[in-house]
Amino acid sequence: MPVLLDGLERLEYRGYDSAGVAVVSAGEGLQIQKCKGRLRSLRDKLDSLPPLTGTTGIGHTRWATHGEPNDVNSHPHVSQNGRVAIVHNGIIENYAEIKQFLLQQGVRFRSDTDSEVVAQLLEYCFDGCGDILDAVYAVLERLEGAYALGILCADRPDVLIAARKDAPLLLGYGDGENFIASDATAIIRHTRRVAYMEDGEVAVLTADSAAVFDAYRRPVEKQIHTIDWDVSAAEKGGYAHFMFKEIMEQPEALRHTISPRLKDGQITFGELRLADDFLRRMHRIYLVACGSSYHVGMLGKYNLERFLRLPVEVCLASEFRYSDPLVDENTLVVVISQSGETLDSMAALREAKARGGYILSIVNVVGSSIARESDDVLYTWAGPEIAVATTKAYSTQLAVLTMLGLYMARRLGRVEEAEYAAVTAELAVLPEKLEKVLACTDACQYLASLYFNREHVFFIGRNLDYALGLEGSLKLKEISYIHSESYAAGELKHGTISLIEPGTLVVALATYEKLLDKAVSNIVEVKARGAEVVALTTESGRERLEQLATHTLVIPDTHPVLRPNLGVAPLQLLAYYIALHRGCDIDKPRNLAKSVTVE
Ligand code: AGP
Repeated sequence: MPVLLDGLERLEYRGYDSAGVAVVSAGEGLQIQKCKGRLRSLRDKLDSLPPLTGTTGIGHTRWATHGEPNDVNSHPHVSQNGRVAIVHNGIIENYAEIKQFLLQQGVRFRSDTDSEVVAQLLEYCFDGCGDILDAVYAVLERLEGAYALGILCADRPDVLIAARKDAPLLLGYGDGENFIASDATAIIRHTRRVAYMEDGEVAVLTADSAAVFDAYRRPVEKQIHTIDWDVSAAEKGGYAHFMFKEIMEQPEALRHTISPRLKDGQITFGELRLADDFLRRMHRIYLVACGSSYHVGMLGKYNLERFLRLPVEVCLASEFRYSDPLVDENTLVVVISQSGETLDSMAALREAKARGGYILSIVNVVGSSIARESDDVLYTWAGPEIAVATTKAYSTQLAVLTMLGLYMARRLGRVEEAEYAAVTAELAVLPEKLEKVLACTDACQYLASLYFNREHVFFIGRNLDYALGLEGSLKLKEISYIHSESYAAGELKHGTISLIEPGTLVVALATYEKLLDKAVSNIVEVKARGAEVVALTTESGRERLEQLATHTLVIPDTHPVLRPNLGVAPLQLLAYYIALHRGCDIDKPRNLAKSVTVE
């Protein structure tokens, strides 16, 4: 138990909303304790009970994706007859159909989580075959989605089983003891000798053995690595800052957001209650948010109007609530918030609700206030975002909002089949295209070394590029403290261009090929006043922009409505490296809070 609690304590930095432990011994069988809240609450609960006995155990801190944060939804999850206990990181995409099958077999569920189906299915298979490893393989064949699993079986108190697919899991080799962990931080005090599990592998650990098998149950010889991180560095999974870690996590976060909702080219939102009758009556949409979430709304306006041919208003939450908004029972109000606790956004939600609007929120923190007060909520499932400057939450909000627009347009029969297919095809490969963009951090590092000392930076763009520039500008401002503004490129000549002088840095976003000629003319315009131009474009614009701009950043081609999801990454990296050069406190910028719960 001390090993489990110490390990969970070292993972607290990752953000969680509940915690639990389980141990198994020959005498006492499986013993579980878990609860909502901080690790302190779990310790208090354990201290009030007779000590749990057993040297084989699992522990978990949960970040809710399916099911509110509460005691019952916390991990470990136990099968109905108490034979199996599991802890799970990831999302079981086909949990609903597995749950349906098990309910028909008479299995009684306790929680609302996707994870519990693993424990129940394991016991169901174990009852059928009598061998826990056979049962594990039978279950893994049926699971779709991402999982890092720790498994205990009452009948095998000396054994700990682990399985991994699309969620990190490592093995730790000790002296007379062996470990599994999702992050090296949890076990670094006990051993620095680790092996990283691959997708499809299953590990069977005892105190003095650690066997690993592949998806076909063939033994695998694992390469053992020695961790040389100091503990504090390990706390960010080896990254120097949470912000950089979260920038690099965006492809995985997008997979969690998109994959469960995109099957065979069809977008489905099983969790949505949005009725056809309302959709038919819907005559206006408000997108309401603050900060970066507002910038998601600015992008969403272009995409939703493209798909739905309805007026879409984007409002700063702090303005919306005092603007006597035109909201009635035929208005959809989409509230976008990573934390789900932003007071301005909550107040705007209540104002819209009071006027009869249908509230649909896009939120990352499950069970947060905004989620609870909405008529419908779409979670982004990006995982905990620790850095004050948002990155993966912004990206997943954007993906959800674009998918929502396409989904509603399809239900209303307002989108061409060709367009729908083109967007969904690109959605499916968006994470891997983003991985390609994130692989070229050196270009952004180089530009940061040139420009980290500038005091003013202008972002210019048209249409989606303008909206994307708003986010690039905010990222730069909030972590490097450089003054920056984002302008609709066509607006420069109406005043602001007077500020452009020799040496001024202008980031020109030119990913929207329909307006490429216009973007080019704006670049010529500012260069004529001596500006240095960093252009951002797609592969198809590369040649033209490289002849014109001082420097050019390039993203892969993709459907226009998805380009901001790729284009934001170089802007995040540019801001990050500039802030690094300036020695700023990247994860905790001055004056800022991760969740603004004041007016
Ligand atoms: C983004 O980098 C900022 N930290 C901030 O603008 C943030 O987006 C804003 O406060 C809204 O927060 P929310 O998404 O949690 O509502």
